[in-house]
Amino acid sequence: MLRSVAATVLSVGTVLAAVKTSEFRELVRKNDATIPGAFIVELSSPPTKRTADAHADFLGELDKRASGKFSTRRKYSSPLFNGIAVQLQNPEASDLASLESIPNVIAVRPIQIFHAPETINRRILSGPDDPNAVPFGQSTHYMTGVDHVHEQGIAGKGIKIGIIDTGIDYLHPNLGGAFGPGNKVAGGYDFVGDAFDGNSPPVPDNDPRDTCIGHGTHVAGIIGANPGNAYNISGVAYEATLLAYRVFSCFGLTTDEILTDAMLRAYSDGADIITMSLGGTDGWASSTLSVLASRIADRGRVMTISAGNDGDAGAVFTSSPATGESVISVASVQNIITTRPALTSSVEHAPVLYENADGFAMPGQVLPIGESPIPVRSLTSDPDADDTACDPINEDFSQVAIVLRQSSSCGLFTQLLNLVATNPKLVIVYDGSPFLLGGFFPAVYLLNKEDGEFLVSEAAKANTTVTFSQNNLSDVPNNDDGGLVSFFSSYGPSNELLFKPAVAAPGGNITSTWPVDLGSFAVDSGTSMSCPYVAGAAALLLQVKGKSAAKNVRSILQTTSRPVPASREKGAPPQTLAQSGAGLVNVFNAINVHTEVSPAELRLNDTAHWNGLHKITIKNTGKTAQTYTLSHVPANTLIGLDDAKINYRYRPDIKQVNAPAGVRLSQSRITIPAGRTATVLATITAPKNVDVKTLPIVSGWISVTGSLGDSVKVSYMGVAGALRDTQGISTGNRMLVEANGGLPAIIPLDQEFLYAQRGPRNYTRDDLPVFVYLMAQGSRHVTLDLIDAATNISSTIPDPLDSAPSHDKRDFDWSWWWPGDKSAAPPAVPTVGTVAEWRDVTRGSPVQRGRPFVVLDFPTQFANGTAVPDGQYKLLLRALRLTGNPKKASDWDVYVSQQVGLVEE
Ligand SMILES: *[C@@H]1O[C@H](CO)[C@@H](O)[C@H](O)[C@H]1NC(C)=O
Ligand SMILES: *[C@@H]1O[C@H](CO)[C@@H](O)[C@H](O)[C@H]1NC(C)=O
Ligand SMILES: *[C@@H]1O[C@H](CO)[C@@H](O)[C@H](O)[C@H]1NC(C)=O
Ligand SMILES: *[C@@H]1O[C@H](CO)[C@@H](O)[C@H](O)[C@H]1NC(C)=O
Ligand SMILES: *[C@@H]1O[C@H](CO)[C@@H](O)[C@H](O)[C@H]1NC(C)=O
Ligand SMILES: *[C@@H]1O[C@H](CO)[C@@H](O)[C@H](O)[C@H]1NC(C)=O
Ligand SMILES: *[C@@H]1O[C@H](CO)[C@@H](O)[C@H](O)[C@H]1NC(C)=O
Ligand SMILES: *[C@@H]1O[C@H](CO)[C@@H](O)[C@H](O)[C@H]1NC(C)=O
Repeated sequence: MLRSVAATVLSVGTVLAAVKTSEFRELVRKNDATIPGAFIVELSSPPTKRTADAHADFLGELDKRASGKFSTRRKYSSPLFNGIAVQLQNPEASDLASLESIPNVIAVRPIQIFHAPETINRRILSGPDDPNAVPFGQSTHYMTGVDHVHEQGIAGKGIKIGIIDTGIDYLHPNLGGAFGPGNKVAGGYDFVGDAFDGNSPPVPDNDPRDTCIGHGTHVAGIIGANPGNAYNISGVAYEATLLAYRVFSCFGLTTDEILTDAMLRAYSDGADIITMSLGGTDGWASSTLSVLASRIADRGRVMTISAGNDGDAGAVFTSSPATGESVISVASVQNIITTRPALTSSVEHAPVLYENADGFAMPGQVLPIGESPIPVRSLTSDPDADDTACDPINEDFSQVAIVLRQSSSCGLFTQLLNLVATNPKLVIVYDGSPFLLGGFFPAVYLLNKEDGEFLVSEAAKANTTVTFSQNNLSDVPNNDDGGLVSFFSSYGPSNELLFKPAVAAPGGNITSTWPVDLGSFAVDSGTSMSCPYVAGAAALLLQVKGKSAAKNVRSILQTTSRPVPASREKGAPPQTLAQSGAGLVNVFNAINVHTEVSPAELRLNDTAHWNGLHKITIKNTGKTAQTYTLSHVPANTLIGLDDAKINYRYRPDIKQVNAPAGVRLSQSRITIPAGRTATVLATITAPKNVDVKTLPIVSGWISVTGSLGDSVKVSYMGVAGALRDTQGISTGNRMLVEANGGLPAIIPLDQEFLYAQRGPRNYTRDDLPVFVYLMAQGSRHVTLDLIDAATNISSTIPDPLDSAPSHDKRDFDWSWWWPGDKSAAPPAVPTVGTVAEWRDVTRGSPVQRGRPFVVLDFPTQFANGTAVPDGQYKLLLRALRLTGNPKKASDWDVYVSQQVGLVEE
């Protein structure tokens, strides 16, 4: 039997992702996140061969080598993924070695089990008067400009969205009430059946109705709920067609084997957008699902995937498959839960609803202009005049608010350009479109045309003033964190320092549909909720721009999004992009802006691989020339590691500081004629006033503001420190065996409380200890060997026992300790044998849900299945540091355990 090591690895994510055949040796272990003996084998497809032939060749070879010992679980024959899932009946190590040596095998990956996402604080609603109901159902759309897109009659018509989730209760009246062609939920498939428990065979059928969990029905409502319900909600793309792929059973379980099938099916069914509110902590872009999701996106379909709900765990803790390189990883922002702010006029009138036009202001927030009354001026007495401010104006408006109707003859931007010269205190626009403006002067849009007409008529006949109550939002339900990034939203970047998450959308305190039998409506929170929001946003974009725009959707949403402030205090700096992505999506801006800027993301990498010089291309897609102003808008810098500089900070100790990167631009003003492009060079340098050993994450934007009002930006993110200078195996964590200094540790199981073994100790085989450790960083390669106890190798990382309070404690001070010069490579290591080896390992976190550390039974077998003879041993754990060179000894962290003797009874 092959189960030489019993390992419990913790997050659902991949600890074994992307094992290269050439490097693949022995990776099997008992792991409650994988199916024993089950593997997905990816095959290359020679261009001359049909996939059926490749499958037959593979199975023929497998039969020769492991006749009668395996069964085929599933075949994948797609240009996107060619492979076979196999089950080894009674796996021997030699079977696996055979598997990987079969021709055309690209990768062998154990099949992972995924759990349905845990959302935050779910509440089923009994009716609009339920105390848990969230008022103002449309407020999420106020945050993103989607209300205005709906007003233009755009709601996703003609776009197909595949939802891979728990199914959809299509019988819900707001989700069409029926299933099949012609209905809102027009198709789909159930890949699992109700009773699938991870090991039992799935029982697929054609009916993907969500009857038991509800998650998928909530997701579906965020995308597609029809307006006209008691909660006043509407889906972002309520005219889109939905395809329901049910992958979670009533136990809330699925596998990547099933998810692979579902993704390929959604692709072949022609879904324009595929959305997945699921995943597991991983950190790498290399898991089966991340790679597949990225390939689908590269083929011109939009992939939206939740960034994850592990915000507690701090920086660099991303979820797979959202980590896939071309995927849109979606972060969550809290619902503002508010109505529109209103201004009051000195003339008796109902409050006048407005929207702040400043692209950098928090959506829904009052205009921060003080409470003094401002005199209103109109350039005409005719409220219907269509040419106000169409010509240059030679006046000083610095003391007044100019109210004007948006012109359909010369256009808003010409009007604004003419007004710039008058230095207005405030501009009030009515009967127009709510563009986000670059902040030349304060400006608001009035929601109702009649209010504008009223102000014009009053301005003409008396000294009318307007006043902006600054406290208007104090009486709305979500004054605490509305408009801020949700605390639970996971932080990027990925271990490869990919720009993750990509963008944010409303995901906290979201009302949506729920299975009819389970209550019909629910409030829920999670990146599970923000992800479908962006799927809907993508549908609106594709409807307007055509399906060929799919590959640009991420860039368009990123360049037109708006920064999310770090707090609700006035003038708060933006939240780190490592949590908010490029910002909160603004779909109206995305559809209507006349400027394109690329690339959308600048990936700066770390200081050892700094990529600071970038060419930014600006294209004026409008009908007139624009002069663009470029500037640097830094966000908060996220401090990665805690004061000991080994472990990541986690909530509530996550820390952001004001330590911006330096940005130099080759030009800060540039005029571009209509339809033309120009380039500007940006040089970005890491900040100097930070401790590089804490891995500070810098981020922000280069903002490009057009003279006609366009506001777009390029986002950047990087690490102001070198990943490979950071210890990969956690110490100083005080976990599990706190009194003994924490992990790593050999932990005997013979006492009431856990403690770490200190000094040599003998064990019989029925009373073995466990070995437990925690990864401080992700690692491309981790190995575990047995060495003879007499071998002269020592740890390169501190032994937690040394810092533990005990009689033989040495003087040890974490505050000054740091690994010294390790450039001298240790001698080649004589080991007794390899116990296990892992690739693309995720980092742990003390606050991760589930168990964040790795637990291994002390080995009694080597990786090849041979029994470990009696003897005196130590465990040798080695982990390649992030970006480390595997050939360089000093890029590996080495930990040598206490001595363990295996003896007869
Ligand atoms: C529902 O939303 C619409 C559109 O924003 C708004 O005009 C209306 O007042 C809302 N109704 C309720 C009951 O909140
Ligand atoms: C408007 O204000 C001016 C200057 O403050 C004042 O002279 C005038 O009487 C006012 N007009 C009205 C109608 O109140
Ligand atoms: C805030 O605005 C609403 C209308 O959106 C209005 O009903 C309310 O009275 C205002 N509150 C304050 C304190 O001005
Ligand atoms: C950062 O640099 C490392 C080392 O060269 C590389 O492996 C990684 O892909 C880079 N990341 C990005 C986002 O360019
Ligand atoms: C919003 O959600 C948070 C938890 O995510 C909860 O504590 C709070 O009560 C919710 N607020 C409303 C208004 O629903
Ligand atoms: C372990 O057992 C060996 C031989 O059985 C013995 O020599 C050694 O002293 C024992 N060690 C400990 C720590 O008990
Ligand atoms: C073990 O290594 C240390 C440091 O390299 C050396 O001083 C010591 O003599 C070695 N011991 C043995 C038994 O080889
Ligand atoms: C298995 O591995 C051990 C340790 O590396 C080695 O001593 C043994 O010879 C191997 N057995 C086989 C059958 O390869």
